[in-house]
Amino acid sequence: MKDRPIGVFDSGVGGLTCAKELLNLVPDENMIYLGDTARMPYGVNTKETLARYTNDDVNFLQRKGVKLVVAACGTVSSNVPAAQIQNLSVPFIDVITPTVAAAAKATKNKRIGIIATPATVKSGNFATRLKMIDKDIQTVSNGCPQLVTLVQEGYIDEDNFITNSVCREYLAPIKAFGVDTLILGCTHFPIISKIIQNIMGDDVTLIDSGYETALEVKNTLARLNLDRDKPRDRVEYYVTSQPEEFDKVANIFLGDNSGAKAILTDIKD
Ligand code: DGL
Repeated sequence: MKDRPIGVFDSGVGGLTCAKELLNLVPDENMIYLGDTARMPYGVNTKETLARYTNDDVNFLQRKGVKLVVAACGTVSSNVPAAQIQNLSVPFIDVITPTVAAAAKATKNKRIGIIATPATVKSGNFATRLKMIDKDIQTVSNGCPQLVTLVQEGYIDEDNFITNSVCREYLAPIKAFGVDTLILGCTHFPIISKIIQNIMGDDVTLIDSGYETALEVKNTLARLNLDRDKPRDRVEYYVTSQPEEFDKVANIFLGDNSGAKAILTDIKD
């Protein structure tokens, strides 16, 4: 069991924000990454559709023999509880739990912003979970679907005019609320965290859901005694369409030497 890879999935490149940290934080672990690019964006779908997609994604990873599955996707994490995944036979980690814990710890003025997909914001999950930690925390949320597409298509340079304009528009109500902490509740967003930080200002702490989740994976592997004790020899990336587009963003984001080369796959049985 210890030797098996970790499975990570998202609708596209967003889960790389978690995968990148995992490559550093658990340097011996093998990894199978799945981006369901044929059906992205996930964040505009109903809970029923998201449950169906999640089942397909998890089953694909389980067929690949993973020892743990990471839903590196805020939309899935906030809309599909593990109980709705059939035949789940390995530990399942979502992005909500570690992200809200980090945000609640970071805030001083108890005003936290959440930017995510429309489906995540509609679920109210981040806001509810923050209130459960501290009832005095006040939140403001905004669904930012255009950012997913911009990131997925590689509009990620710090000075990209379009992405900066769209971010300014989406972040205006969050800034107006006077938050001191901002949750990047969609895993696509840490890829453009410099743009977001520039707009929000240095006084606002950004909480990267990908990073927090990778830390949770590291701790879970240690707690369950599942960590691999041999050097890494395998990292595979799978997508359900447009592998070249995925590679373009992956190689910028992971670093030019990552050699990420996505394999086109069908995830159905
Ligand atoms: N990166 C995902 C998330 O964290 C999915 C974005 C999308 O496909 O809409 O929500």
